[in-house]
Amino acid sequence: MLMCGRLRRLFRQLTLQTSLLLLFIFCMVSVLISAYFLYGVKRELEPAGVGGVGVPEEGTADWEDPRATPSPPSARVLPARTAKPADMSRTDPVVLVFVESLYSQLGQDIVAILESGRFRYQTEIAPGKGDMPTLTDKNRGRFTLVIYENILKYVNLDAWNRELLDKYCVEYGVGIIGFFKANENSLQSAQLKGFPLFLHSNLGLRDCSVNPKSPLLLITKAREVEHGPLPGDDWTVFQSNHTTYEPVLLARGRSTEASGAPGLLHAAVVQDLGLHDGIQRVLFGNNLNFWLHKLVLVDAVSFLTGKRLSLALERYILVDIDDIFVGKEGTRMKVSDVKALLETQNELRTHVPNFTFNLGFSGKFFHAGTDEEDLGDDLLLSYSKEFWWFPHMWSHMQPHLFHNQSVLAEQMLLNRNLFRSQPFIYLIGWALNDLLHFISNQISIFMTHLSNYGNDRLGLYTFKNLVKFIQMWTNLKLQTLPPVQLAQRYFQIFPEERDPICLIFNCFVKNYIIDICCLVCSGTTALYLFLGMHPDLTSNYPSKETFEEIQFFNGRNYHKGIDWYMEYFPLPSNTSSDFYFEKSANYFDSEVAARRAAALLPKAKIITILINPADRAYSWYQHQRAHDDPVAQKYTFHDVITAGRDMPIKLRVLQSRSLVPGLYATHLQRWLTHYHPSQILVLDGQMLRTEPALVMDKIQKFLGLTNTLNYHKILAFDPKKGFWCQLLDGGKTKCLGKSKGRRYPDMDVDSRIFLREYYHEHNIELSKLLYKMGQPLPSWLREELLHSR
Ligand code: A3P
Repeated sequence: MLMCGRLRRLFRQLTLQTSLLLLFIFCMVSVLISAYFLYGVKRELEPAGVGGVGVPEEGTADWEDPRATPSPPSARVLPARTAKPADMSRTDPVVLVFVESLYSQLGQDIVAILESGRFRYQTEIAPGKGDMPTLTDKNRGRFTLVIYENILKYVNLDAWNRELLDKYCVEYGVGIIGFFKANENSLQSAQLKGFPLFLHSNLGLRDCSVNPKSPLLLITKAREVEHGPLPGDDWTVFQSNHTTYEPVLLARGRSTEASGAPGLLHAAVVQDLGLHDGIQRVLFGNNLNFWLHKLVLVDAVSFLTGKRLSLALERYILVDIDDIFVGKEGTRMKVSDVKALLETQNELRTHVPNFTFNLGFSGKFFHAGTDEEDLGDDLLLSYSKEFWWFPHMWSHMQPHLFHNQSVLAEQMLLNRNLFRSQPFIYLIGWALNDLLHFISNQISIFMTHLSNYGNDRLGLYTFKNLVKFIQMWTNLKLQTLPPVQLAQRYFQIFPEERDPICLIFNCFVKNYIIDICCLVCSGTTALYLFLGMHPDLTSNYPSKETFEEIQFFNGRNYHKGIDWYMEYFPLPSNTSSDFYFEKSANYFDSEVAARRAAALLPKAKIITILINPADRAYSWYQHQRAHDDPVAQKYTFHDVITAGRDMPIKLRVLQSRSLVPGLYATHLQRWLTHYHPSQILVLDGQMLRTEPALVMDKIQKFLGLTNTLNYHKILAFDPKKGFWCQLLDGGKTKCLGKSKGRRYPDMDVDSRIFLREYYHEHNIELSKLLYKMGQPLPSWLREELLHSR
């Protein structure tokens, strides 16, 4: 009490100047203290040099006990914990991949493996610190696995985000995979601070083997030692005496080669069983250049996701040999080559039941080689029943060059006459450029060429060794099927692909298409009108079926094919600067439109207009009322948006159609997975309404139009309509019809408040996305963010 009294008296005696000075000093001290701690935390999380602990002596350990090497005491040994088993029902089957940049090699390799397994993923540029994407959505985990291209980005996360991520991993049983790629600046020996794990970097390794005790092995077989050096001298190995770490791949140090003594076994890939902090991890001491790492990565993904992102062990293989009879003299098969082909086929059958080469032929070139090669043709034909066959065109023409179907059929019949009894099979296939794609592709069709069976027999050598390799290193079970059955099997495994995503290749290479993929009620019709005023932009012909819009990518029209779509556009002109454009207001929130559009129009530019999602929902509701929708007539807007689960289904449908399109971040994210951010322009719908000419300037810049139109002179505000319209000669205006820009009462306050809350999180997500895309926030979004909480 006495002390308080004195202090009070002291403060009363202070002048204003002294108070300000004290306040200033207080602030400075706070800033310094914060800076010290922030810097200190960062330093602590970086791998630090460990005094006195270098790379262990070579030749002292046995691979059967890879942890036998003496380890320094761990810096922070937490009480032992067990990892929570992954609770699959609580997370979405999506992998969160933190890459170093959009173009980093390792990041692309990781993504390639996930894509070939058809696993869903989301890539994020790993931030130096902070900016963790939203991990949960209404108590549901958005990711089932986290992969860091550079594990240091995880270790060096600021304390807040690190705790956020770790808590998420523990709570949802989510594992982490990380890669440590040493460089010239990496410390030779270091501890991953916070972990009882030591890293020794920039080593050369040899004689790699798989630890048979590793629990994550599925595809990878732990039997063989890969003799010889591992690629590169920049390996990092892991060392620990904590029971949480189990080596997965082991290799010997290379430096003892001269002494002849075997090098110490090091763990080049290590599995953290989660006994340390409840999180399971798999750490790689290098990138994916080493082929065994690819196998182990696929197994790690499977293990850490409780086999949710996992593939069956069956792998189907089909080997096509193209251009039988077509090759030039000197490159074709002779009698001995044909015999070797049959022998190899029989040999392969011991590993792949019923393995049969699939021969593609053009009959016209039968007997077109040297005498020796013609004998080869005869022998091949006499063995015709031993192989599968599929026809090319009789004279090896490309089928799309035939102008009508009957000529094409005639040509095919000529081929048929060569065999009479052979069925007709069309090729369904795709080429592989990397044999290791085998690991994550359940069906592989190799397209090979005659000359590799006649000239150098490289084809036979390759497939014999490929099968041997698969047998030796993997638990995969190789199978084969003729093409049609294989196609059927393919669609059994991937039923979702019955809906093709690519109808034709390389269309529209020259003529860009702009898609206004936005939402009904955001201003699409106005933008469509304004774009149509530009001489370099050509719109689609209106569709009678779908209220002028083509609506190709989002619905059933897609199955009518590309020709149906193209009929909505004039024939391409020679000027490459021409843009076609169409607007279909249902593209933006469609689950499939982005994927389909990107497969067909990879170079398209996408424009989307966003207005406040609350206003959009309200406008949509008013639109439905104006069209006499009985549900919209019966219920107020507030009833619609707040309808509970027990309300009539029709009301719930209207509710969902009012609210779901406004989850802009989700929809935009989908477009961003298929298009580069530079191809997408996000427009402020509010600005389109009030300053359309400025918006049109922006669009012209985005499209790179050389012929710039001054919209300030050709648009005019029509006070009667209350909107901007096209200015016609003579001063008259051409505005949109009655159904656009209707007059209706303002939204009630309760609904506004409800929707502000409803869209709050999504609007924050949207602002983050736009920030990443380098696009300004629409004015309404800034206002919403200011208003909320
Ligand atoms: P309201 O009718 O609710 O006012 P869409 O064409 O995508 O369905 O969007 C219709 C909305 O575009 C209208 O919604 C209106 O607010 C807005 N809009 C923006 N600019 C306009 C313009 N120049 N003329 C008419 N409507 C315009």
